[in-house]
Amino acid sequence: MSISPTGRGGLSHKRPTSFSRFWYGCAYYPEHWDEAILQSDPELIKNAGMNVVRMAEFAWDRMEPQEGRYGFALFDSAIERLGRAGISTILCTPTATPPRWLTVKHPEILRVNSDGVSMEHGSRQHCCHSSPVFRHYSRRITQAMAENFADNPYVVGWQTDNEFNCHFSECHCDSCQAGFRDFLKERYGNIDKLNSAWGAAFWSQTYSSFGDVLTPRPHKPTYPNPAHQLDYFRYISHAVAVFQHDQVEILRKTRAEWFIFHNGIFSHIDYRGLLTQDLDMLAFDSYPQFCYDSSQRRFSHAFSLDCARAWSGNFIIPEQQSGPGGQGDYLHDTPEPGEMRRMTYTSIARGTDSLLYFRWRTSRFGAEEYWCGILDHDNIPRRRYEEARQIGAELSRIGTLILGTSVRVDIAVAAGDFVNQDAHRTLNFGLPAPDSIAGAIHSYCFDMGLAVGCVHPADDLSDLLLYIIPHWVIIDPAWLPNLKQFVENGGILVIGARSGTRDLNNNVIAETPPGVLRELCGVTVEEYGRCNDPENRPLYIKTDAGEIRTQLWYEVIQPDGAETLATWRGRHLDGMPAITRNKIGKGQVLYVGAYLTGAVVQYILPTWIAEAGLKPLWADAPPAVEVVVREKEGSELWFFINHSDEEVHLKTTPEGVDLISGEVSGGSLKLDRNGIAIIQRRRVEL
Ligand code: GAL
Ligand code: ZN
Repeated sequence: MSISPTGRGGLSHKRPTSFSRFWYGCAYYPEHWDEAILQSDPELIKNAGMNVVRMAEFAWDRMEPQEGRYGFALFDSAIERLGRAGISTILCTPTATPPRWLTVKHPEILRVNSDGVSMEHGSRQHCCHSSPVFRHYSRRITQAMAENFADNPYVVGWQTDNEFNCHFSECHCDSCQAGFRDFLKERYGNIDKLNSAWGAAFWSQTYSSFGDVLTPRPHKPTYPNPAHQLDYFRYISHAVAVFQHDQVEILRKTRAEWFIFHNGIFSHIDYRGLLTQDLDMLAFDSYPQFCYDSSQRRFSHAFSLDCARAWSGNFIIPEQQSGPGGQGDYLHDTPEPGEMRRMTYTSIARGTDSLLYFRWRTSRFGAEEYWCGILDHDNIPRRRYEEARQIGAELSRIGTLILGTSVRVDIAVAAGDFVNQDAHRTLNFGLPAPDSIAGAIHSYCFDMGLAVGCVHPADDLSDLLLYIIPHWVIIDPAWLPNLKQFVENGGILVIGARSGTRDLNNNVIAETPPGVLRELCGVTVEEYGRCNDPENRPLYIKTDAGEIRTQLWYEVIQPDGAETLATWRGRHLDGMPAITRNKIGKGQVLYVGAYLTGAVVQYILPTWIAEAGLKPLWADAPPAVEVVVREKEGSELWFFINHSDEEVHLKTTPEGVDLISGEVSGGSLKLDRNGIAIIQRRRVEL
């Protein structure tokens, strides 16, 4: 089934959202509270400086208590009450939690796991996106909601569903078997093509018809076919996007002015594909406290935001952590005073164009009765409320200045590629995922104070000085002209081992590695090996800066136009090239025949960073201060965010005005613990 996406197109890490105001608010659940409390909410929300709430993503049972009997009164009145206080509403389609009457009547819509076990009612995400019956009910509730709220002046936009695939990303129900076959029929046309694309000749897997194909379940005596698996993941991504499209179509038809987003980012969904192309912007739920090591949290938070931006550009955060999150067997660190605000500004600095907290008031029941929001269970505003209020006051001044800006990126790691993420899942030799290598490189650059980000190879690379593709086994030939142009224009491109060794079907390429990258890298890879025992069989890379002990992987490289920058020492590799440089136009491509692990990065990256002319964004900023620039033609916003437990001092700052304090900047700056400055730099006329 081919679908024309309805979004604004042009996905790019530099794309701002289309918001004309900065939405600031919280996730709100009128279905959990009695009337007296609901009456008192609007004033409190308004006094926190909030202008929006998000509602109804889990309230299908309230809105359609029995099949076809709709009742929206609770939401009509909550929206009205808030609206009169100046607070708009973002609604959600409630399809993450189908009601019990539906699963009683149609148990066939329940998802089925890889053991063939059907999911049950009582939690969420229990129904299958491919089920025609579930799609029918999803369209009906969306239509009923759309009609009911069509003329409501306070409803400004929609979130589809909630976090597709957050808990459950594979489904093997009968609908998925049929859906997978249809997907394959459309992709391959005839079964011979599928057999050839999957290398079905191996282990006698040949299929005589599409009807014989099953989803890849683990119940085989040994390893499955990686091409079969990758196509299944593609199918899951497609099925989710089609499911969402049903809803998007209805919402767009009902009221074209509504903006529509979906909150990711989870497994087996291509967020550069149809799902996001169908939306006005992507959304990302930000929960930094999932990183339990507080010393690492700022790194993982920054990386997660930069990854989110890599898919399609600036985004909205419909759920930003406010209190500790607790479920089942964990309870996060409680954000200390100032931490919620600090996390908020990191999210804003790194690409969110609007932000809502999860949640307004902590629920007293259900699986998330300890997932704390702005208000505690007892509804008494305490320090988190005061912090939200401070931010609200700040954003009422700063919010609109942020809109329309993009985050400056000078150095990027490649990220945001569904195929490479999922190809890694199918066959990885126990090596780290490309995203985990990218994360470590990102952290290293973040720590150096560089303007680091994440960018997809098909995206706009024109502002980058250095670009690193860690270990992407699948390189789409369509990306090559872009990469080549980046290098010709003076960029430094770093390609890690194993890149380009598999084709789009996830089969090994027939050419000598690095396949389609050969010309760009000016090398061939003649031999490779997994380093399983680096203690007893150590290998070193000899560089001008010294010897680096490598782990995990080696390659024997044959230069074919490239020069050798570093050689191997150890075992049978003594003296053979390990790192090469191929000069093209004004730039160069560096090929590294090893994994870009910590030791390799620490030794080599500084040289390349220097060669690329990269400098910390603000040299004077102490190490624990995160510096980010959001910019547009004629305007620069400099974020300085203190992550240390101490107050810190900068001797100099960009000349302009600190939008937080209102003071003229340029001289020294004191940042308290968790302190923030956002300096609007005065335009320097050259
Ligand atoms: C998100 C989800 C919310 C809530 C929150 C805390 O993933 O969208 O509904 O569950 O996490 O767990
Ligand atoms: Zn299914």
